Amino acid sequence: MNSFVEEFNFEDRILETSYREEDAETEVSLRPESISEYIGQEKAKEIMQIYIDAAKMRGEPLDHVLLYGPPGLGKTTLSNILANELGVNLRITSGPAIEKQGDLAALLTNLGKGDVLFIDEIHRLNRNIEEILYPAMEDFALDIIIGKGPAARSIRLPLQKFTLIGATTRAGQLTTPLRDRFGVLIRLELYTPEELATIVKRSASILEVPITEDGALEIASRARGTPRIANRLLKRVRDYAMVKCDGTISLEAAQAALNMLEIDELGLDNTDRRLLETIISFYDGGPVGLETLSATIGDKQLRLKTFMSPILCR
Ligand code: ADE
Repeated sequence: MNSFVEEFNFEDRILETSYREEDAETEVSLRPESISEYIGQEKAKEIMQIYIDAAKMRGEPLDHVLLYGPPGLGKTTLSNILANELGVNLRITSGPAIEKQGDLAALLTNLGKGDVLFIDEIHRLNRNIEEILYPAMEDFALDIIIGKGPAARSIRLPLQKFTLIGATTRAGQLTTPLRDRFGVLIRLELYTPEELATIVKRSASILEVPITEDGALEIASRARGTPRIANRLLKRVRDYAMVKCDGTISLEAAQAALNMLEIDELGLDNTDRRLLETIISFYDGGPVGLETLSATIGDKQLRLKTFMSPILCR
């Protein structure tokens, strides 16, 4: 590794969109519990409300839902709201957490009528485990093989009618048979700075931090359209305002705190700026392929793709 490479820090960044330990406390306490509390994603909310009402009117479980879009936009929150609005239980798991067919079978057999099973990162589900899902989603049945070799036989166990919510940041990586079994597809969009400012004000009020309109908008406009980042920045700015100012998050306090964190007006940090500078100076502003760019900065393609695609592929 050359020294140029070592200076790139992809993982440990406040602006990283994926879930981090530091989000645990706030994501639970700040999470909206009903559609009316949920800010933004107007299209998704409208679609959800219609299907919720229809499911309630028919007295049947909601059709299976696929939520897709960039990380940090509230897929888990939305499924929590869906289960609340339907008055059913929610079980949460993720593609990589389901290691064996038996793990998924156990989850499915424990679901009650109408319950919601949320599978995050569903594109990472193992293919042979995915096959269990097909009859489960379509016929509410579990096909299990008993015995081995020529004596093996398949038996079909009935399941309660349930709703699967699959969440993915990569809808394109879903296999066609799995994608086709979702009746409702909902794409989540990045939030506008105004929507994020409303979220920041709501979070500040729950955390009992005084904040001004322009202070909230300043945090919002540097948060890359992502509530998870906005709430993270809010906590850092709160600490700064307490120590360096009078505790209120004003425009000046927000600007000073974010400048100290080296997050600029566009919501870019040092790593982003250096990567963009590389594209500008080595490749005349691009376009440049992922493989070439990875080689230039001496990085593995996967890291660049995992951590930087939100800014590179927008
Ligand atoms: N916290 C995180 N995302 C939110 C949203 N969309 N609405 C309200 N509070 C939130």
